[in-house]
Amino acid sequence: MPNVVVIGAQWGDEGKGKVVDIYTEHADNVVRYQGGNNAGHTLVVGDEKVVLHLIPSGILHEGKRCIIGNGVVLDPEVFIREITNLKAKGRIKDDSVLCLSEGLHIIMPYHKRIDIAREAKSGDKKIGTTGRGIGPAYEDKIGRRGIRLCDLLDRDIFARKLTEALEEKNFLLEKFLNDKPFTFEEIFNEYNGYAATLRKYVADTSLMLHQEVKAGRNILFEGAQGTLLDVDHGTYPFVTSSSTCAGGACTGTGVSPREINEIIGISKAYVTRVGSGPFPTELLDETGENMRQAGNEFGSTTGRPRRCGWFDAVVLRYAVRVNGLTGVAITKLDVLDGFDTVKICTGYRYKGKVITEIPATLEVFADCEPVYEEMPGWNCAISNVKSFAALPENAQKYVKRLEQLMGCEIVMVSVGPRRDETISLRNPFFA
Ligand code: IMP
Repeated sequence: MPNVVVIGAQWGDEGKGKVVDIYTEHADNVVRYQGGNNAGHTLVVGDEKVVLHLIPSGILHEGKRCIIGNGVVLDPEVFIREITNLKAKGRIKDDSVLCLSEGLHIIMPYHKRIDIAREAKSGDKKIGTTGRGIGPAYEDKIGRRGIRLCDLLDRDIFARKLTEALEEKNFLLEKFLNDKPFTFEEIFNEYNGYAATLRKYVADTSLMLHQEVKAGRNILFEGAQGTLLDVDHGTYPFVTSSSTCAGGACTGTGVSPREINEIIGISKAYVTRVGSGPFPTELLDETGENMRQAGNEFGSTTGRPRRCGWFDAVVLRYAVRVNGLTGVAITKLDVLDGFDTVKICTGYRYKGKVITEIPATLEVFADCEPVYEEMPGWNCAISNVKSFAALPENAQKYVKRLEQLMGCEIVMVSVGPRRDETISLRNPFFA
């Protein structure tokens, strides 16, 4: 069975949770490899709605191993709360199905306070972060002063690293960010408590995955956020701090690129974005509001209203290229059911010229006007449609046009939040 990476092809919130949940049926291992609890996957299982921020959604399937890889930054409090909630719902009957990389970095209380204080100080230049301490935790990782899970598990190493960190963090908090400092004791005691709970989940997950592959068992890599939020390939600096692109699946798990067989990008049939930054097809009018209401576009992590706009084929072509997508899943097609016409952005107009690639400079990107193609809508409900051929003709034409403009095969079309509201065109696990 192939190893498959599932990633967001836009600015996050593309509906990866549902797609991963469907594909999990064919996977032995489901792995998160970047980000942290800035992500939020809303899943509808039967009539039950489950929101997961850290634990791979594969946990809803019995017998699958769920791994949180070294590339993730983990807030222990959130992780433990998620386990407790899942157990209260009768999930995770066996703790050995959940594994944490000993090399992942821990989000500390000062990361969260710095994240929030820095945003507050940035005024109109703020990124619009989720305030979960993600950026500051990755800063410490890259700055080689982070605290990893294996450090947290050793009282002496943890005490030393925390002492060193607090010297710098308290200085930053008090002198630059005008915020409160932390005492060693308040963090040390709380986090030692977490260490005791986390210990049983800790493993050499890179080795574990290597052994799984050798034994013929496969991996589903569950990406968080989206391509345009990648720290290298996204709309920097309005990005998250991790590698959200397909390459992150390897660095964030210790699995070789040679082991990856399929890379599936998830894209809404339109675009949403939360937080600041350029968004050429954004609709600030009634049409945008209608999209937000029809798609229930409010963040599952922060509850913030999402910015909405028409499908951007330039963004998708870019995502196909930088990730090497082998297929695209189009989600939330049903959200466009009520529109008389639908638009697709095929390029940008900048200073009178049409460009078909995303400009590197943010200021140029912010000044780009979308060039649209307009198509008739289908004006009827499609959520109960079970095959592509049964979709209204105009909906079929719209999907086919997206495929043509992206230059990548569409392998799935989602027409509603439930598992059974999905049209599968090709299953990457049976390629
Ligand atoms: P951070 O990841 O909290 O540092 O936020 C950085 C940027 O990424 C902000 O614009 C956030 O809104 C955005 N972001 C982070 N996680 C998600 C997500 O799961 N979906 C959509 N946007 C996200």
